[in-house]
Amino acid sequence: MPNRKIVVFDAYGTVFDVAGAVHQAAAEAGPLVADWAALAATWRRKQLEYSWLRTLLGAHADFAEVTAEALDWTLEALNVSDRALRGRLLALYDRLPAFPEVAQALATLKNRGFRLGTLSNGTPAMLAAALAANGLAHLFEAVISVEEVGVYKPSAQVYALVEQRMAVTRDKVLFVSSNGWDVAGAARFGFATVWVNRDAAPMDRLPHGPNHIIPDLARLSVIA
Ligand code: LAC
Repeated sequence: MPNRKIVVFDAYGTVFDVAGAVHQAAAEAGPLVADWAALAATWRRKQLEYSWLRTLLGAHADFAEVTAEALDWTLEALNVSDRALRGRLLALYDRLPAFPEVAQALATLKNRGFRLGTLSNGTPAMLAAALAANGLAHLFEAVISVEEVGVYKPSAQVYALVEQRMAVTRDKVLFVSSNGWDVAGAARFGFATVWVNRDAAPMDRLPHGPNHIIPDLARLSVIA
């Protein structure tokens, strides 16, 4: 993707492993939950569903609240009533691990002169905490949260924040996300897009597909 000097990353699922909190809690708590994988998958799905619904309803709450509400629904659905586990999972969410290749991939791009940003549903506090926990904060020129507009992705208002905050036009931006629906929103807005298909998932049946598909961020240097 020549001449795109700005690379903007989605955060959760792309930079940070959203299953990381559940993996850590499972290692600590063992058989407390019968199906930890179901907890992780349902929590994430419900979190996204609530973000979309709140935007459609015009009833915004920040991503910390949406994440907690999605967890509460999931724990009830799985018949888990342990309050300590709830608190532990939410605490772990603030320091989710980055995927193993992320730090090197970002550093390589930055050393080549790319300007890097992240654009996320997360609150500024959540993003700052997770970036700091992984030693990644210094790599990003801009950490942009949907809280600046009070609606969630894939609203065009969110992608427009990149133009405002990084003083660029959309044709200069390469947007990278593991979330197919986020890729669709970014592509519709006018960014060039990369889908990080970590799980070899089928392509979303949405009107705007990615320009490139890679299995993880290590392959980004081939495209950018
Ligand atoms: C984010 C969501 C998509 O980081 O996970 O914006």
